[in-house]
Amino acid sequence: MQEDENNVIAIDGPAASGKSSVSSRISAKIGYLHVNSGLMYRAFTWSVLRSEIDPNDAASVVGHLNSINLNCGQSDGISTLRVNGLDPGLELKSSEVNENVSVVSAVEEVREALVSKQRDYLKIANIVMEGRDIGSVVFPETPYKFYIDASVEVRAKRRMAEGGGDDLNKRDKIDASRKVSPLLIAEDACVIDTSEMDLDQVVQAVFNELKVRGLEKL
Ligand code: CDP
Ligand code: CDP
Repeated sequence: MQEDENNVIAIDGPAASGKSSVSSRISAKIGYLHVNSGLMYRAFTWSVLRSEIDPNDAASVVGHLNSINLNCGQSDGISTLRVNGLDPGLELKSSEVNENVSVVSAVEEVREALVSKQRDYLKIANIVMEGRDIGSVVFPETPYKFYIDASVEVRAKRRMAEGGGDDLNKRDKIDASRKVSPLLIAEDACVIDTSEMDLDQVVQAVFNELKVRGLEKL
């Protein structure tokens, strides 16, 4: 399949707004590959911490980037991640990774390397990609872009219900204020405030908008 024949649906938004849940339902329904770009930043951060590199030392972080093999692929329709052949698994969601992922993700060279891997996915499949800058920076040309939001109180409650261990406010602040591709709402994104919506309603709202925007084969 040619890269220019494939579609990308971009789902951006702050932490715990519902990006993963919505993206996985949409991709399952229409047979697109679900790619969670946040997990790539988490995997690299996991590797930085595991190698006992100071996440605040940008030069060492970049050095580490150039010394590892971060493989982003897919197997049987599921996207996969390996760091030097290892699958970090549940450690991607550890509180140590939560605490350090935003500072590592703010490093320009890290973003360049991961954005390039994110773009490679479009060469192999139709994709639903979630993140912070997918509609604004990674695939600005896609007409299918969404910004999923919810109040900070609702998002904190959702994360607490999952077990907590995540300072959303701190992460959001770093993500929205960094110099390189900060979290922002792309001009042509469809914004959905999900504070008072359940998942089915959000998925339906996304589908309705995809139809309006002309996505065929829904
Ligand atoms: O699921 P949640 O929204 O809590 O986080 P995530 O999507 O797994 O992303 C973890 C972190 O990776 C974010 O807080 C950002 O610092 C970073 N990230 C990013 O900078 N750009 C992206 N496209 C995706 C994630
Ligand atoms: O990927 P992101 O961090 O943006 O959020 P998520 O992991 O999809 O959702 C965080 C939690 O909120 C999950 O437990 C979802 O089931 C829940 N959620 C919800 O209750 N209502 C929504 N409209 C969206 C998500």
